[in-house]
Amino acid sequence: MEKIIELKNVTKRFGGITALNKASLHVEQGEVVGLIGDNGAGKSTLIKTLVGVYGPDEGEIIINGKKVINWNALKARESGIETVFQDRALCPQQSIVWNIFMGKELKYPFGFVREKEQINEANRLIREIGFTSKLIDAESPVGNLSGGERQGVAIARAIYNNAELIILDEPTNALSLNETQKVFDFVRNVKKSNRSVLFIGHNIYHVYDISDRFVILDRGEVVHQIDKKDIATPEELMKIMKQTVEVN
Ligand SMILES: Nc1ncnc2c1ncn2[C@@H]1O[C@H](COP(=O)(O)OP(=O)(O)OP(=O)(O)O)[C@@H](O)[C@H]1O
Ligand SMILES: [Mg+2]
Repeated sequence: MEKIIELKNVTKRFGGITALNKASLHVEQGEVVGLIGDNGAGKSTLIKTLVGVYGPDEGEIIINGKKVINWNALKARESGIETVFQDRALCPQQSIVWNIFMGKELKYPFGFVREKEQINEANRLIREIGFTSKLIDAESPVGNLSGGERQGVAIARAIYNNAELIILDEPTNALSLNETQKVFDFVRNVKKSNRSVLFIGHNIYHVYDISDRFVILDRGEVVHQIDKKDIATPEELMKIMKQTVEVN
């Protein structure tokens, strides 16, 4: 499979703290990668480097096989990398369609918004990623949605923005089991459309179900990478994680 993005030996320091130490990570097309590690392991720093918020002190960023220079947030978005942060990014008073098109409305030459088209497209998007409730459509206010469904709206927006890689930073942290399953269904549909997902969490049980491959970060270093097919249970993954952390 094709690597759509790769970080090679990336180091990032904050003053005296080395948040990332020669960390390498890649994501292939159509793959769900689970990035796991304890608090302070460097997960958010790795993501922020990937999406161009931070420039690495050392190391390379490779997009579709080409090394990029002066990587930044704009280039990351242009390359189809979208991040879904928990809730924060949505406006609950507004409708689903408003939230999906926010800042990127479809317009007529005179500047009027093509509302009907937006509604149709938003309905198509939310069905595509797996909204099944008959009570919800593009014009429903986001404030009426559950936590899992809100993640779904954010994912739909990422897809509308041509995301090839969607990064979910601890998307299931505040969610019930039921809502977590909903988010997993959305992620499965994203994968079906041959897009990729980088799923961040420190709850292994959340990350386990949905991921094809796991990358374990510990104190800024990628200490282990393992395919789901090579482990039988989340307990086994937990064991591997504990062992690697103890050895280091
Ligand atoms: N902007 C910053 N300035 C200084 N230190 C930072 C900054 N961001 C992160 N760090 C430090 O870098 C290390 C890695 O932090 P990071 O937030 O990437 O971890 P994390 O794995 O996302 O943790 P969590 O699970 O708590 O979100 C920590 O020691 C943290 O204190
Ligand atoms: Mg973090």
